[in-house]
Amino acid sequence: MLELLRTRYPALLALFAQILAVLAIALALWGLAGLGSWRPTLWQAAMAQGVLAATLGQWLGLKRWWLLLNLLFMPALLAVQARQWPAWWFLAAFLVLLLVNWNSFREQVPLYLSGARTRQQLSRRLAQLPNNFTFVDLGCGLGGTLVQLARDYPAARLVGVETAPLVFVLAWLRCLLYGNCQVRYRSLWREDLAAYDAVYCFLSPAPMAELWAKVRREMRPGSLLISNSFEVPGVAAQEVIELNDWRGSRLLLWRL
Ligand SMILES: C[S@@+](CC[C@H](N)C(=O)[O-])C[C@H]1O[C@@H](n2cnc3c(N)ncnc32)[C@H](O)[C@@H]1O
Repeated sequence: MLELLRTRYPALLALFAQILAVLAIALALWGLAGLGSWRPTLWQAAMAQGVLAATLGQWLGLKRWWLLLNLLFMPALLAVQARQWPAWWFLAAFLVLLLVNWNSFREQVPLYLSGARTRQQLSRRLAQLPNNFTFVDLGCGLGGTLVQLARDYPAARLVGVETAPLVFVLAWLRCLLYGNCQVRYRSLWREDLAAYDAVYCFLSPAPMAELWAKVRREMRPGSLLISNSFEVPGVAAQEVIELNDWRGSRLLLWRL
């Protein structure tokens, strides 16, 4: 159960750590009130809550970036409230975050983008295909990879699928400038991969096993799966291109 929460729903575990930490700090404040006259400031209480939430998160096995979120959540809330920003600002910020991070919770795939070096190496590798190749970016983000390839390969047919609403709109607008590039509002699970010579993805460890099953069902013999950095569990890549960037990125390739 804990393992399932850790891998599929870490946000729930992080929330659990936050709630436990709030209860523990509230209990400690109540205990202190009975002991003497010293009272911590609101800031001290928020910092203590953050440290406790991060510690609990680590104990529950959350990844490092969740620990940072747990540490900073309550102090950040306090900082924002201290400035007395109007209530609609929070709603607007929440909506923007929701429309950008649409897939973080259910799919476990947040938005982060392929770097320039990754795009260049990918483009260089695709030069080995016939110049009218078909390509899909599963979860195309802001469309940066598609735009690079659209410029490098005018005869190729390039498709991106994306379901985070705001991210989709931005990628769609960017790709309007290129006749050989199209962005669809569609889940990657609903895209038929048989149509493509090369399938590119930069997702997270969470969907890779299920994606591999889909790849095996749908991709044509001889076509190419390229994953930025994330491995398919139990299936070694046939080719690895090291990108030597600060993230330690690699392009992993499988020929079907
Ligand atoms: C890590 S980003 C990669 C963006 C882009 N491919 C790149 O390399 O720069 C992953 C993207 O996949 C999208 N995504 C996640 N699950 C998806 C799904 N089921 N269908 C379509 N897009 C999805 C996310 O919204 C996010 O924009």
